[in-house]
Amino acid sequence: ARLVVLVSGSGTNLQAILDACEDPAYGAQVVAVGADRHDIEGLARAERKGIPTFVKRLGDHDSRDAWDRALTRAVAGFEPDLVVLAGFMKLVSAEFLAAFPQAVVNTHPALSPSFPGTKGPADALAYGVKVTGCTLFVVDPGVDTGQIIAQSVVPVEDDDTVETLHERIKVAERVMLVDNVGRMSREGWSVDGRRVRLGI
Ligand code: GRF
Repeated sequence: ARLVVLVSGSGTNLQAILDACEDPAYGAQVVAVGADRHDIEGLARAERKGIPTFVKRLGDHDSRDAWDRALTRAVAGFEPDLVVLAGFMKLVSAEFLAAFPQAVVNTHPALSPSFPGTKGPADALAYGVKVTGCTLFVVDPGVDTGQIIAQSVVPVEDDDTVETLHERIKVAERVMLVDNVGRMSREGWSVDGRRVRLGI
């Protein structure tokens, strides 16, 4: 399967996918990596592998719609089977999603529906939950509200900081992402109401 991965930061989730794709049996290849900003490690990780990259900065466009259309065109140009949002810190529009029907997935560092948005680990820590984790879902136009594909649970330790907790989540997140993107790539998937089935 042809993957386009969108990042906004360090790209450790991207790196895990890149490493998995080294094995032909994994069944996927990252054909491009896109970002909403320049000079991030996520782009460097792709460049080191000779994978095409592109940057679509909101500030370079006259409007959010123009940015969204430019992003959609850039991603579509690589003819992805699956678009993976891995730490991509922008909301994509219904128009973007319509270009890749049920083929955009996102990983979120909390157990949806708890703690949506950009501060999942901090919100979990502040709330005082004893377990949290990460969620892989098919993106819909809401904020972290799509159909859940997989979740992974991690404990919250008494002495956790946001950073130590998020690092623990990211360990589980990389495994969840690699395992499920691989299965989707090899077996296909279908979405039936709120349920995602792997294997066509
Ligand atoms: C991941 O935990 C992702 O879920 C969240 O931000 C982190 C990105 O990490 N949105 P990286 O860029 O993959 O290292």
